[in-house]
Amino acid sequence: MKNLFDLTGQVALITGATHGLGMAMAKGLGKAGATLVINGNTPAKMEKALENYRQEGYTVHGYLFDVTDEAQAAENIAQIEQQIGPIDILVNNAGMIKRVPALEMEVAEFRKVLDVDVTGPFIMSKHVARHMVERRRGKIINICSMMSELGRDTVSAYAAAKGGLKMLTRNLATEWAKYNVQVNGIGPGYFATDQTAPIRVDGHPFNEFIINRTPAGRWGDPDDLEGTAIFLASKASNFVNGQIIYVDGGILATIGKPSNE
Ligand SMILES: NC(=O)c1ccc[n+]([C@@H]2O[C@H](COP(=O)([O-])OP(=O)(O)OC[C@H]3O[C@@H](n4cnc5c(N)ncnc54)[C@H](OP(=O)(O)O)[C@@H]3O)[C@@H](O)[C@H]2O)c1
Repeated sequence: MKNLFDLTGQVALITGATHGLGMAMAKGLGKAGATLVINGNTPAKMEKALENYRQEGYTVHGYLFDVTDEAQAAENIAQIEQQIGPIDILVNNAGMIKRVPALEMEVAEFRKVLDVDVTGPFIMSKHVARHMVERRRGKIINICSMMSELGRDTVSAYAAAKGGLKMLTRNLATEWAKYNVQVNGIGPGYFATDQTAPIRVDGHPFNEFIINRTPAGRWGDPDDLEGTAIFLASKASNFVNGQIIYVDGGILATIGKPSNE
C-alpha cells in the first residue's frame, strides 16, 4: 500500500516554494521520497529557503527565475532536466493576489495577476509537459483557490485568474491524459501562513468570520496540504484527470450559518 504513494527517485519541481504553502507542499513530496527542485524569484529568500530545507534533511536544489518569462522558464527547465534529472512532478504554486476594488483597479495590475496566476502555469506546463509527453508519464498539479469557484470583494483579478487556472487544468488534462500525463489542481481554503498571522487573532473580525464560515472550525495548517499533494503526485492518482480537490475544511460544501448560531 505504501508503494502507491512512494515518490522515491522522482524529481518534483515546485514553483514559488521559498516559503508559505509551496514550501509546505514541497516538504510533503520530500517526505514521500521525491528529490525537490524549488523555484523562487528573490535571491535572498531562495538562500534562506535552501538552508531551511537542508537543515531538515531534504534533498533540494534551487532555481531562480520568473515563471512568466517564457525564455527564462524554458532555459531553466532544460537545465533542471540535464543537471538533476527528468521532471516527474510539476507543482504550479507561484501566485500573487492584489486586493483592490474593481472600480479602482488599474488594467496593468489586473493583467499582472493574470500573468503570474494563469500564464505562468501555462508556460511552465507547456515546457515541462513536452518532456513528460515524450516519456509517456508525468504529474502536473496547479494550485487554484476557493476563488476558482467564489467571488469576494476586491479580488476580481485573482478570482478571474484562479477560475481561469481551474479551466486551464481541465483543458491540459484533456489534451495530455492520452499520454499518461495527469493534470489536476488543489484549491486551498484559508491557511495559517505568515501573511495571515496579523488577522489570526482572537477578536479580529476576519478571524471570527473564517472560524464561523469553516465547518471544520479552524484555519488550515499548511501541513494539511501534504496528503493531497502526495496523492496527486503519486501513482495512486493515475486515473484522476482534470479534478480540483478543495482542501478547505468544508467551506465550499456549505452556505454557512449566521454568526450567532
Ligand atoms: N495562503 C493562502 O491561504 C492561499 C489560499 C488559496 C490559494 N493560495 C495559493 O497558493 C499559492 C501559494 O500561496 P502563498 O500564500 O504561499 O503565497 P506567497 O507566500 O505569496 O508565496 C508566493 C511564492 O510565489 C513566488 N512567485 C511569485 N511570483 C513569481 C514569479 N513571477 N516567478 C517565480 N516565483 C514567483 C514567490 O517567490 P518570491 O517571494 O521570490 O517572489 C513565493 O515563493 C498561490 O498560488 C496562492 O494563490 C494561497
